Amino acid sequence: MRGLKAKAHPNLIVGLDSSDDAGVYKLNSQTALVQTLDFLTPVTDDPYEFGQIAAANSLSDVYAMGGEPVTVMNIVCFPCSELEEDILAETLKGGLDKINESGATLVGGHSVDDQEFKYGLSVTGIVHPDKVLTNATAQIGDTIILTKPVGTGIMSTAIKAKLATEENIKESVAVMSMLNRAAAKVISQFDINACTDVTGFGLVGHLLEMAKGSKKCITLHTGKVPMLKNTLDFANMGMVPAGAHKNRRFFEKLTHIDPAVDRAVVDLMFDPQTSGGLLISLNEKKSKICVEKMKTHGLNAWIIGEITRDSDTGFLNLI
Ligand code: CO
Ligand code: CO
Ligand code: CO
Repeated sequence: MRGLKAKAHPNLIVGLDSSDDAGVYKLNSQTALVQTLDFLTPVTDDPYEFGQIAAANSLSDVYAMGGEPVTVMNIVCFPCSELEEDILAETLKGGLDKINESGATLVGGHSVDDQEFKYGLSVTGIVHPDKVLTNATAQIGDTIILTKPVGTGIMSTAIKAKLATEENIKESVAVMSMLNRAAAKVISQFDINACTDVTGFGLVGHLLEMAKGSKKCITLHTGKVPMLKNTLDFANMGMVPAGAHKNRRFFEKLTHIDPAVDRAVVDLMFDPQTSGGLLISLNEKKSKICVEKMKTHGLNAWIIGEITRDSDTGFLNLI
């Protein structure tokens, strides 16, 4: 997209200039549109679960902007000659159940015959123009909260290698198919300085996008990062997806990794996530109250880092 010269518009609140989760366009003083599109290749063998996960993943970008999803369209690429039609029907059913859970309405979609199965959503949401959460406004003195454990990429690799247990698979599917809706609702009651969600660039990549946009240095306490059960063992066994190495090559220029951090832990920090948690930056004192509030709502949340100082390029310290 770097070569594209998109026209600026006075109503565009968040556009292509920043690497944010969704575009935001002001309609009037009360309402702005939040728009995003995401689709995935299957991450589980169960089509219904895949539909749920892909939908939760797509909807998440609206929550990460402080918005509420309103209308949704399916996007489908399906190998008609290779896969049973039931697989597509089950996938769409899983997606629809998540759409219904989010409170949004399915209004249409588009499908093409393609060699590789892909499914996702185009989501349109709304947000008050003054309540937009971007990833570019983190402040010194903030701490960083994460709302889901990492390791879904490593887990997928372990599942393909038949190393993951039933329990492992169940935990991973539950984490990926969970909407970020409830967490977004809790944080709407706090003065959040910055927010994004953790997906393909991994925890480090999305934290670094926040650091770059906010021109700040972030310290990540790797020992405090929640991980799916056994993913550290799987990383030690080399079950690390290519995307994690790609992320590392892409982001390591602006990252310092303390040599004391275990190699498998580093792999998890770069592991590409599907439908990961929200990554929230807010004042240290309020962070603790926010985490407590999440817990009273039955949600998990972990304080994993802090904003330490200004940095023109944005920088990340892994300790
Ligand atoms: Co996102
Ligand atoms: Co996205
Ligand atoms: Co058409």
